[in-house]
Amino acid sequence: MIQFKNVSKTYPNGTKALSDININIDKGEFVFIVGASGSGKSTFLKLIMKEEQPSSGEIFVNDVNITSMKRRKVPYLRRTMGIVFQDFRLIDKMTVFDNVAFAMRVIGARPKAVKRRVLYILGLVGLKDKANCRPAELSGGEQQRVSLARALVNNPSLIIADEPTGNIDPEMSFEIIELLNEINKQGTTIIVVTHEHELVQKFKNRVIEINNGMITADSGVTAEKTAVPIKISQEELAELPEEIKEEIADVSAEEINEEALKAINEGEADDL
Ligand SMILES: Nc1ncnc2c1ncn2[C@@H]1O[C@H](COP(=O)(O)OP(=O)(O)OP(=O)(O)O)[C@@H](O)[C@H]1O
Ligand SMILES: [Mg+2]
Repeated sequence: MIQFKNVSKTYPNGTKALSDININIDKGEFVFIVGASGSGKSTFLKLIMKEEQPSSGEIFVNDVNITSMKRRKVPYLRRTMGIVFQDFRLIDKMTVFDNVAFAMRVIGARPKAVKRRVLYILGLVGLKDKANCRPAELSGGEQQRVSLARALVNNPSLIIADEPTGNIDPEMSFEIIELLNEINKQGTTIIVVTHEHELVQKFKNRVIEINNGMITADSGVTAEKTAVPIKISQEELAELPEEIKEEIADVSAEEINEEALKAINEGEADDL
């Protein structure tokens, strides 16, 4: 669904935000993007939605090379995406209802359908009773949830959320990710930037770590598709066959785990 080929991004002021990124995100995946502040996470998302252009390399979304996409086609690209911006980007003079409805109205949805769907989505994010408020009358966390509601309302095939839980308490954060998880189960691809390690650990989705503009870790595939790594205890290590012990005699503790696992996987340690 999303493919980065040797993508680098240097901003006009000379800041190098991303260096030679290569990554594939398949349709239906749920990916967390983690990494220190300033590491390039938002830039990564902005390239996918074509809010920024790469300085070099190519980006594909649904097999379409968006690097060379004509400007007038960008709105159509964005309509396939539900985007939660780090800075919300709500329209101040519109009510909560209209902020969410707006996304449906621009694609020509009928008023009745708009009303039903918007109220349903506002209910999902716990904001039905704030429908007539303006963004300025809401807390940061409530504004963030309006932004999420707007991203969900058109049932997009891709949801991109930049810290959708940054202003929300832990319990609500869990519920929001749980909601995205449910949406993901129905086939929607989801990419979420987050700083919350607890959430990342709880949900066991694919995790891509960006640091200094480079991908420094990628758990690869979503949890269901991967075997859970087995940790080998000291006692179990002591019981490894002699020839394997000898083989791993002068490697570090972490490497021992890996080597031992490899040996076990290759059937060399059947006696264990
Ligand atoms: N429009 C811009 N012009 C110049 N430099 C920028 C611009 N936007 C971001 N940067 C710089 O690019 C780097 C990556 O920024 P980015 O916003 O992608 O980081 P981030 O990982 O999202 O950080 P955070 O966790 O704080 O949101 C930073 O050094 C930032 O200062
Ligand atoms: Mg950011």
